[in-house]
Amino acid sequence: MIFVTGGAGFIGSNFVLDWIEQFDEPLINLDKLTYAGNLENLTSLQNNPRYTFIQGDLGDRELLDRLLNQYKPRAVLHFAAESHVDRSIHGPEDFIQTNIIGTFRLLESACTFWRYLDQPEKSRFRFLHVSTDEVYGTLSKTDLPFTEVNPYQPNSPYSASKAASDHLVRAWHHTYGLPVLTTNCSNNYGPYHFPEKLIPLMIVNALAGKALPVYGDGLQVRDWLYVKDHCKAIHRVLESGKPGETYNIGGWNEKTNIEIVRTICSILDRLRPKVDNSRYDAQISYVADRPGHDRRYAIDASKIERELGWRPDETFETGILKTVEWYLAHPEWIVNIQNGSYRNWINKNYEARS
Ligand code: NAD
Ligand code: TYD
Repeated sequence: MIFVTGGAGFIGSNFVLDWIEQFDEPLINLDKLTYAGNLENLTSLQNNPRYTFIQGDLGDRELLDRLLNQYKPRAVLHFAAESHVDRSIHGPEDFIQTNIIGTFRLLESACTFWRYLDQPEKSRFRFLHVSTDEVYGTLSKTDLPFTEVNPYQPNSPYSASKAASDHLVRAWHHTYGLPVLTTNCSNNYGPYHFPEKLIPLMIVNALAGKALPVYGDGLQVRDWLYVKDHCKAIHRVLESGKPGETYNIGGWNEKTNIEIVRTICSILDRLRPKVDNSRYDAQISYVADRPGHDRRYAIDASKIERELGWRPDETFETGILKTVEWYLAHPEWIVNIQNGSYRNWINKNYEARS
């Protein structure tokens, strides 16, 4: 039995779906169902006896203690977080509550549970913390990609809150001996990605005939990884990672934002040509930059390749094609997600930039 937090979000739901499809081991999913949590992603598991969903908050220590004692998982996989940089700029409070206080409560609960386990369950137990490359700050064009020993230099409220959570996880290992694993991954993309983030927003807006808002000069660089490759890496770290170690995960795919947007436009030109034969890239609109916008992220993923034998299966070209095809095949998922609170957020974020 494994215990997942945040399994109704983008990466978590991909992980949960893949896990139930590939393994017999049951899985518990604890998720608060914030705006980013979507049970529609997991409807195929509704009657699956190996899957249990519990709605609840990481901050609820009593609930965490009860669930761990009831289900006795061999591992906690911690995905739950507030995850959007732009939202963290407009309202950092939830990021502090969930990413820092929530992680602290989960560590306390897991540590108490783990401490009283009998051997060999105790030595087998793992706490895997899913984190981001953004904790390392920003790179110039010529800097080498981030390795696991780069200093932490977070620049946004989001990355600062994730950095704080990484430090707590590290401290619970060094002080209390909790067998933790931390992964720091680059930008993910793929199915079930909430359309507030760059790639799904561009696909959804392009299809709706809306502007494609590119921040600043569009030359910021991100290192993109197909979400299923991230899920495989997490599984590999869970099974073979060394407690106390951190592993950087990335796709060796550095792209500028404008390259990403133009690639999406040209795939759509081919797969869903517009009736008037105009091109999707005519919808590109440069807007005011994000405050404190990190210029470049890049991950050196050689440690996880060398020590655990993981490498991504998808190239950016194969992954982005699958992703656009997924959104084209799921128009109802897009419509259902665009409720009132989504529209309020989009108006607030992009009015501020026009
Ligand atoms: P997401 O925003 O899509 O999903 C987060 C999930 O956590 C949602 O289902 C939400 O309901 C749940 N949640 C939020 N607050 C909660 C709380 N207090 N208690 C319980 N559940 C709560 O995020 P994502 O993109 O799937 O990211 C998952 C994890 O991976 C995060 O920790 C994020 O920092 C990390 N990460 C994301 C990326 C990326 O590109 N998306 C890259 C590297 C690392
Ligand atoms: P995002 O998907 O928010 O991920 P992160 O900020 O965590 O890297 O953004 C990816 C890049 O795309 C980032 O440089 C900001 C930029 N961006 C835009 O240019 N326009 C947009 O509308 C959004 C949401 C992001």
